Amino acid sequence: MLNEELKKLEKEVHSCKACPLFESRINTVFSDGSSSAKIVLIGEAPGADEDKLGKPFVGRAGKLLDELLKLAEINRQEDLYIINTLKCRPPQNRKPKKEEKLACEKFLKKQIELVNPKVIVLCGATAMESFLDKSLKISKVRGSVFEIENRKFVPIFHPSYLLRQHSKEENAPRSLTVKDLKMIKKMTLF
Ligand code: URA
Repeated sequence: MLNEELKKLEKEVHSCKACPLFESRINTVFSDGSSSAKIVLIGEAPGADEDKLGKPFVGRAGKLLDELLKLAEINRQEDLYIINTLKCRPPQNRKPKKEEKLACEKFLKKQIELVNPKVIVLCGATAMESFLDKSLKISKVRGSVFEIENRKFVPIFHPSYLLRQHSKEENAPRSLTVKDLKMIKKMTLF
């Protein structure tokens, strides 16, 4: 039933022309992972690799995300349902525009409603701004749990940002993200 509803929604996304991004897309990018996962992870928008393959987080940032998930003992295919705020690639990977986010919002909200996760992980500022106060800074609030309308949200650094942060120090962004992911996994155990 759940998977049927998600399939129906995916078909809707596939034929969506609600914003101009449909003109330049190769594929729509709906989701990856498991619809019965307790964690929904939300990124920004598809990049070139995602547009080509029709799956979220399969490019360089996705490979780094996979490494960090492994370190936190989170199984990408079983423990996560991975989506983006936008289902189509913005040209040159520019930031999503307000009207594009608005046009895509109903799909994002419906995916969350159907999967009904215990925790929602907001990867980077774009995903965070879709749910939390726009004045928040990710560097200040990453790893914090926000409870809104009975849903728990945890912002973390975006893997594209982490690609430029190489330090292995305990308090460096990559280590902090692994720490955040470990905490998120724990939140799903009770
Ligand atoms: N960055 C994102 O935010 N999402 C993807 O799917 C890939 C890169």
